[in-house]
Amino acid sequence: MIRVESISKTYATREGPLHALRDVSFHVPQGKVYGLIGLSGAGKSTALRAINLLERPESGKILLENEDLLTKNVQELRVFRQKIGMIFQHFNLLSNRTVAQNIAFPLEIAGWEKRDINERVSEVLELVRIPDKANAYPASLSGGQKQRVAIARSIANHPQVLLADEPTSALDPLIKNDILACLADLNQRLGLTIVIAAHEMKVIRRLCHEVSLFKDGQVVEELDVVDGKIAPQSDFGKLFVEEF
Ligand SMILES: Nc1ncnc2c1ncn2[C@@H]1O[C@H](COP(=O)(O)OP(=O)(O)OP(=O)(O)O)[C@@H](O)[C@H]1O
Ligand SMILES: [Mg+2]
Repeated sequence: MIRVESISKTYATREGPLHALRDVSFHVPQGKVYGLIGLSGAGKSTALRAINLLERPESGKILLENEDLLTKNVQELRVFRQKIGMIFQHFNLLSNRTVAQNIAFPLEIAGWEKRDINERVSEVLELVRIPDKANAYPASLSGGQKQRVAIARSIANHPQVLLADEPTSALDPLIKNDILACLADLNQRLGLTIVIAAHEMKVIRRLCHEVSLFKDGQVVEELDVVDGKIAPQSDFGKLFVEEF
């Protein structure tokens, strides 16, 4: 469904060029949960953000439904971006809007009718199991509830893919399990393809079907997750599994 082919991304820093991604390739099959894993600074977020071109790679291809996003103009890209939802570590909710208004926001921008918006907001609130929070403001919610709102907002416009950047890192362990279960549920019930950047084995065990292991801006190995476990071949991969 998503094919990332040989992308590279270099940041200009005061210390000189920083090669955040070097010749990175991976394939996310439709309907799967795909993990980008590795240590801090390995390039996971940069690779994830390349998929919707929040970070534009300087070379390579990003293929969604066999169309290369890097060749699209601004208008075409807007259409493709509607197929891709995103959630973040710190939720990124609008504090001056209620839960329902947060979820409605991308639908308003996409030009939905008010009645359809209201219907869809109720639907996704049911899906993430917080139907009673529609009129609450983000400040009155727990971290787990905030992430549920962010998930509801990200899927409201029926995206085909959800990008998740460390969506459970800011949550305590029990709530973390809760959000992982919520994402697994959406993957199963809606067939939603999810790409998740994470550095924790728990996320891999509970959620992922396949992963790419990143180190220093490169993919070291692509691995299947079998019964919640990965069996890396590389020395780095073995070390990673042991330590996390
Ligand atoms: N906007 C930026 N400008 C300069 N350097 C950047 C920028 N964004 C990321 N980097 C650098 O690129 C490298 C990869 O960063 P990235 O955020 O992709 O790592 P990560 O694997 O997501 O790490 P973490 O687990 O800490 O989130 C790091 O060395 C980081 O410092
Ligand atoms: Mg990151």
